Amino acid sequence: MSVIDLRRLTSTARQQALRVVLIGPPGAGKGTQAATLKERYGLAHISTGDMLREEVRRQSPLGSQAKALMAAGKLVPDVLILQMMAQRFQQPDVSRGFLLDGFPRSRAQGEALVAMLAAHNQPLHTVVQLDLQDEEIVRRLCLRRSCPACGRVYHLQSNPPAQAGLCDADGSALVHREDDNEATIRTRLAVFHEQTEPVIEYFRSIGLLQRVDASRPIAHVEHLVERMVQGALTRTSPLRSSRRLTISKFRSLGRAARG
Ligand code: AP5
Repeated sequence: MSVIDLRRLTSTARQQALRVVLIGPPGAGKGTQAATLKERYGLAHISTGDMLREEVRRQSPLGSQAKALMAAGKLVPDVLILQMMAQRFQQPDVSRGFLLDGFPRSRAQGEALVAMLAAHNQPLHTVVQLDLQDEEIVRRLCLRRSCPACGRVYHLQSNPPAQAGLCDADGSALVHREDDNEATIRTRLAVFHEQTEPVIEYFRSIGLLQRVDASRPIAHVEHLVERMVQGALTRTSPLRSSRRLTISKFRSLGRAARG
């Protein structure tokens, strides 16, 4: 693909309100990749983990229900997540396109998402799966540090901040997340295999899934993800309507998901 093609597609993506899901195990790099895609395409970055941590910080009723489950590495119940997301989807920034990070995380959440988007004639363009082995995940998360102010993530070995302990973007003191200890990471992995893998299978079955090897260096993964997003955009372009997941097909999937 030439540079001109790439520029044209990026500009088309901005006009088309790109809708992408980043899915994968904890620590696969969803937040890291989301930060780049958000900048490039001007998307709303919707991270259910960040939203829940904000609820916990505000000590809201939802935050109180979520706090212990998050600290234990378990999922917050679908009904609470779907209520939170229904409100989030009403925000005006969603209309310029969005990137979902950490949602959906169960088959029920996935089917609800497809049904809701189908009802609004806004099919997903693609679901990008970041695939990574469990042992590498434990290594990554034990040494992760995050900025509590802007959400930027670092790794003490592979992606350290310029000045130890401080965020490059805003100078805030970096934190070690409470759930980033080995025992909780292993629980989160078990939850991923049991509850999130079925939704990955669901997206594969409806032809939306694309897999990326997330063990490569950050810049390389960025390149692979970019190629997949651009490819999905080309497939959904009106110029390639024969290959796209059409709105009518998406609607029928939405009806099937609603049962
Ligand atoms: P959430 O905040 O979503 O956590 P997660 O899915 O476990 O994902 P992480 O944020 O831990 O990892 P990531 O994939 O974003 O990786 P990152 O880019 O930081 O959820 C937390 C909790 O909230 C859940 O356990 C649950 O309780 C609850 N929750 C949230 N959503 C929910 C939902 N929908 N339903 C129910 N409950 C929900 O990268 C990790 C590290 O690796 C960093 O240090 C980074 O610098 C480094 N790194 C990234 N890429 C690379 C690379 N290519 N090479 C080397 N290092 C890399």
